[in-house]
Amino acid sequence: MSAAESHPFLKGLSKHRGAPPTVIVIFGASGDLTARKLIPAIYNLGVDNLLPSDFYLIGFSRKSISDDDFRSMARDDLEKHSRRGLREDLWSGLEGKVSYHAGSYDDPKAFEALSKKIDTIEKSLGRSIQLLFYISTPPTVFKPILENLGSSGLAKRHRGEDLASKIIIEKPFGRDLSSAQDLNNIIRQHFDEKQVYRIDHYLGKETVQDLLVQRFANAIFEPLWNFRYVDCIQITVAEDLGVGTRAGYYDKSGALRDMIQNHTMQLLSLVTMEPPVSLDPEDIRDEKVKLLKAIRPVELGPDRSEVIRAHYDEGLIQGQKVPGYLQEDGVRANSSTETYAAICLSIQNWRWQGVPIYIRSGKRMARRVSEIAVQFKRPPGILFSDSSRFDLAPNTLVMQIQPDEGSTLLMNSKVPGLETRTQPVKMHFRYATTFGSDTPEAYERLILDAMVGDSTLFIRGDETEASWKLFTPILEFWEASGRRGLETYPAGSWGPVAADRLLWQKHHEWRRPTA
Ligand code: BG6
Repeated sequence: MSAAESHPFLKGLSKHRGAPPTVIVIFGASGDLTARKLIPAIYNLGVDNLLPSDFYLIGFSRKSISDDDFRSMARDDLEKHSRRGLREDLWSGLEGKVSYHAGSYDDPKAFEALSKKIDTIEKSLGRSIQLLFYISTPPTVFKPILENLGSSGLAKRHRGEDLASKIIIEKPFGRDLSSAQDLNNIIRQHFDEKQVYRIDHYLGKETVQDLLVQRFANAIFEPLWNFRYVDCIQITVAEDLGVGTRAGYYDKSGALRDMIQNHTMQLLSLVTMEPPVSLDPEDIRDEKVKLLKAIRPVELGPDRSEVIRAHYDEGLIQGQKVPGYLQEDGVRANSSTETYAAICLSIQNWRWQGVPIYIRSGKRMARRVSEIAVQFKRPPGILFSDSSRFDLAPNTLVMQIQPDEGSTLLMNSKVPGLETRTQPVKMHFRYATTFGSDTPEAYERLILDAMVGDSTLFIRGDETEASWKLFTPILEFWEASGRRGLETYPAGSWGPVAADRLLWQKHHEWRRPTA
């Protein structure tokens, strides 16, 4: 066994060896995600010998590009973005399986021609092949692509068999509840739910997959994981980057749609759902949906609101001056789009009744960090109540999703010395020190899982609707309020003061994630 094959993360992936013969068709093949994530993910699966021996990649987009040019674009993408260097021997084997198909997403003829191309591949192989359509385009063309996959018969190929066609759909999955329902309805006209893989790349992160293991493979946490012992839960997904070149998309989206409705709700449901009866994808997804349905709609109003929105003003990031959101290229001058949102949720079920769940996400914050902190209640204040001698912090389990992946348990300890004094201390587990740092990228895991038909790390139709149901009233309220109630925060800070107040009302405060 090679060193790479004995890596613990790869052992996890190795159950997937033996994906059936597959053609991956990427819609949006000339886009940024394809270049930065999809091509490198597919190549790295090849490096780990996890691609089927009969594997083909067809890039599809509106641009006219020759097969050769597409291959050399893919090679450049690998040189720039692959987590492992380009190996000539591997690339020369893969390159011949890569081709390009130019066409308009709403042109049925382009899909008929694609279908013929796939027939030719099947004929040359002398066997059936699975089709995996990766929709990585702007959402405006999701509908024509889905409809053309349906009318061309591509959606129905080998239906009912293991080799049935599959689609991976990128975010954003709708803008609100009704658009998500419309999209689900179109999908259902052409595909069975088990052919559909709605992506949330957070689910592909190792640390996110580990949440279920940490919770349910360790006996010490479960007895404490409820309203009796947990004081509050805080989820932070902070980025130090601004909108960059994506203002066209972001200014119509904002933090609630871009991060909170999807990524943070996945983190929340994995941390707070009930134990599933098995690791079967449907059992896990059933529990996530039940949890989402137990969240009480948030209070909204001019005087009392459980949600705060803000966008960044100019400020300093790593000592460099950066512009405010309204000065960014492509942002509307009077934009009310939030680059930060904080929300207080409450889960109305037996386990979590009365435990505030605080979630915040923003761009241009003090640093990049995603973490889930479960803060426990304090012990009775009888023995160590003298605050001049006893510096005590609430026990907190911090699951750090990224960077510096790992977990930390905050405890209190006696400071060595003749006098009895206390101080909070940290117990650390770090992935990099235990397992090494060469972990697969989220997209590697997700593409492989879709190829072998494992939908555990994808979002089911009812799950996305349950989440939109919670957030649509907030979006409508903000829409009706214009810029009223929109706060600001300096770039490089931890967010607006109003978000601090949200927690002070409940005698809590935001954690300061430490580097
Ligand atoms: C994407 C958002 O889904 O996630 C981006 O559209 C955001 O705005 C990105 O920057 C963050 O992903 P990660 O993996 O870097 O935390």
